[in-house]
Amino acid sequence: MEAFIRDLPKTELHIHIEGSLEPELIFEIAQRNGVTLSFCSVEEVRKAYQFTDLQSFLDLYYGGMSVLRHEPDFYDMTWAYLEKAHAQNVRHAEIFVDPQAHTDRRVSFETVIKGIHRALQDAQLKFNMSSKLIMCFMRHLSADAAMKTLERALPFKDWIIGVGLDSSERGHSPEKFTAVFDKARQEGFLTVAHAGEEGPPEYIWQALQLLKVSRIDHGVSCVEDSQLVEKLKIDKIPLTVCPLSNVKLCVFNTMNDHNIKQMLDLGLCVTVNSDDPAYFGGYLTENFLAIQEAFNLSHNDIYQLAKNAFQATFLTQKEKQNLLAELDDFMAKSITPDGRQSRA
Ligand code: HPA
Ligand code: ZN
Repeated sequence: MEAFIRDLPKTELHIHIEGSLEPELIFEIAQRNGVTLSFCSVEEVRKAYQFTDLQSFLDLYYGGMSVLRHEPDFYDMTWAYLEKAHAQNVRHAEIFVDPQAHTDRRVSFETVIKGIHRALQDAQLKFNMSSKLIMCFMRHLSADAAMKTLERALPFKDWIIGVGLDSSERGHSPEKFTAVFDKARQEGFLTVAHAGEEGPPEYIWQALQLLKVSRIDHGVSCVEDSQLVEKLKIDKIPLTVCPLSNVKLCVFNTMNDHNIKQMLDLGLCVTVNSDDPAYFGGYLTENFLAIQEAFNLSHNDIYQLAKNAFQATFLTQKEKQNLLAELDDFMAKSITPDGRQSRA
């Protein structure tokens, strides 16, 4: 099962690129930029990664990314993620960036986007790995600030497929961003939003009805509202679930308490993702392994989760078909018709 999960062609739809910044790289970039950190060693940083909720994580997350100053820093961070993803046979990634976390530190929007974009192009050339970039508005900041960020993104439309919404969820409803999401859609951006991670089902409704999102990021609180579950099923709205993240941030006490299997059994379009892998103890393979072990998932369950993700991408139909064919080829080679793993 471990080799099956590792080698399975995968797609990742919920990864904050700044959350892939490993402590070793934080120290390396800090040193070359002459930034003094409040931690003395990589071990000390890792020890501090004990979170009680989303906010306790975000405080360290924004601190960690503050070492990023120049275009090569954004390139190196992105390239490090892409190399790891490639080693786990991630064939396509849709990556979040938080531009405001950088522009508010007087790093230009252009510096951020150019560094990331160059790494994404290199992954296409070197690994035949495709990607999309989604910029998130930070919901604890104002709607005006989000609108200014959208304006900054207009010259980079070709490099940014969509907009999202992240950061502290409690007390920051999607509704606050209705106008900026309207404008983003008029400008041709697709939309997604974090909703129902720590927040109520009502925030998922708002993301669907007011922000008109194509996918919900997290969305685990949807099971509290049966009408919402029906809506998500009928409209086939993908949910980008992040199991290790949810346990690390105490949304669920243990992996056995997670509701991903319940959501899968309800017929929801569930996908598996890593969120902030450097902080939460694993990349995509580790997330799949953790839920497989907790729920004794079958090869077919894992296949369904991977297939959902390929179908939920922002790729063209043709591109989706090619990747789905790759997934089906892999299955045909790995699994016998009665659902057992082949020896080959
Ligand atoms: N939730 C909200 N905002 C975030 C997250 C998350 O899991 N990761 C990075 N920013
Ligand atoms: Zn997230």
